Amino acid sequence: MFSLTSIRGLRATLPALLMAVAALAGVMVAAQPSNAAGSLPCDIYASAGTPCVAAHSSTRALYSSYNGPLYQVKRASDGATTNIGVLSAGGYANASAQDAFCTTPCVVTKIYDQSPRHNDLTVEGPGGAGGQDTGVPADALPVTAGGHTVYGLSFSGQMGYRDNSTSGVAVDGQAEGMYMVTSGTHVNNRCCFDYGNAETNNLDTGNGHMDAINFGTECWFSPCAGSGPWVQADLENGLFQSEAGHSKNSADTGDRDPFVTALLKNNGQNHFALKDGNAQSGGLTTEYSGSEPTTASGYSPMHQEGAIVLGTGGDNSNGSIGSFFEGVMTAGQPTDAADNAVQANITSVGYGAAGPVAAGSLVPGSTISLRATTPGYTDRYVRHQYDGAVTSVVNSASTALDKGDASWIVRRGLANPSCVSFESRNYPGDFLRHQNFRVYRRPMDGSAGFRADATFCPQTGKNGQGSSLASSNYPSKYLRHYDNTIYLASDGGSNAWDSATSWADDVSWAVDRPWTP
Ligand code: AHR
Ligand code: AHR
Ligand code: AHR
Repeated sequence: MFSLTSIRGLRATLPALLMAVAALAGVMVAAQPSNAAGSLPCDIYASAGTPCVAAHSSTRALYSSYNGPLYQVKRASDGATTNIGVLSAGGYANASAQDAFCTTPCVVTKIYDQSPRHNDLTVEGPGGAGGQDTGVPADALPVTAGGHTVYGLSFSGQMGYRDNSTSGVAVDGQAEGMYMVTSGTHVNNRCCFDYGNAETNNLDTGNGHMDAINFGTECWFSPCAGSGPWVQADLENGLFQSEAGHSKNSADTGDRDPFVTALLKNNGQNHFALKDGNAQSGGLTTEYSGSEPTTASGYSPMHQEGAIVLGTGGDNSNGSIGSFFEGVMTAGQPTDAADNAVQANITSVGYGAAGPVAAGSLVPGSTISLRATTPGYTDRYVRHQYDGAVTSVVNSASTALDKGDASWIVRRGLANPSCVSFESRNYPGDFLRHQNFRVYRRPMDGSAGFRADATFCPQTGKNGQGSSLASSNYPSKYLRHYDNTIYLASDGGSNAWDSATSWADDVSWAVDRPWTP
């Protein structure tokens, strides 16, 4: 574990600087969430002379005049599709339209390009390093933006989107810029959570044939500082943090903020730059600005092919996980002033975890902590640790990490809307699920099996206190602590944790107000 204190401290000084930079550039910084004409990312880039050639988001319009569809969802039961649009021109996603349509689970089948180029992304086909992808589950990542509940896109591996026949996207050494709003808490070290320019045939066609932002903990060229996740440039056959591959900036230890702005720009000839920042507040940090990779040929000049990829590598390497809220690509390299104004607009959105509606109850939307009621254990709460679910003593003196690990957002049951699922408070998109009757925090993968394993049906507590949570696919088994570890347990059975001794107490949970609201 490493500390972000120093980075945060540094970033705390940036808003004032940002205001000054933006004022110098003659750009108005919105004082509060607002979609005033000219203020959204693609308006900003257009007025700076580097118009968007791609603008993808499941959360909001990226032009103040945009009033079309954001994405398409497909319903499992009958294969019907519908488009999810915005609440108003320049506004936020109409997530309640999705909720009404998705009476059975939906996946996202298309992400519309809001730019006049219509570079829409559809589910990616097979490539050199990965088979056919699937779409992301449509409801796996509820968040708030602009005070509205909207859905981010949660990628769990073997998921990706692509457009191999684009218009206006840089090719063969042309300059371009791009950013995405992603998450620093839902990442892995597999190839390659990318957004940006890629090959048009889903194959690795050589150095310089990609120019995409990568965000994850895969350290392609060691040494990397800290444990990431890092903003990196996927320029093909390498995730670059500098012209030498690895970062030369030991302060770039990664960005674990729940919402991260990750930015790449490239003049296509001999220079690229990487920036990142907390998408909830503050400005951007330039992590690298310098020459194209010099460790191998092919990168200077670049040989981009102009396809757009989201969620995988250029050859459809699809082992990575990640989150995507919005992203754009531009024609030409944006100015730093335009990047700063875009970041100011992103932070004005107020991205956040989906808000607690009634903290401490099992109502979907409520954030809770689940406390053991077994005598002698009533100071212990269900928390995740190293991905497994256990109980720990949590109290007001506990660390913020322990409190976050012990807080859960109640969701409508992923497999049964009259039951509930528990999303991790500090790992958005991850849920409590059982597997071989142990319970883990795992990223929602959209499969029917995952949904069933992550759905629990509340009943009155078996010992008369709180609630007991029956598994939706093993209805006689309940969430239980045994040896301070969480299992799915029946009242007597073949596993040690099915022990009838203290079963009623161990399966009864007090639903408390959350340690992390
Ligand atoms: O550059 C990293 C990855 O290497 C690319 O995304 C992929 O095409 C290749 O496997
Ligand atoms: O479960 C993942 C992490 O593992 C928890 O946040 C932390 O307690 C432990 O390091
Ligand atoms: O936890 C019991 C079962 O084990 C789950 O339903 C399944 O995912 C796993 O094989």
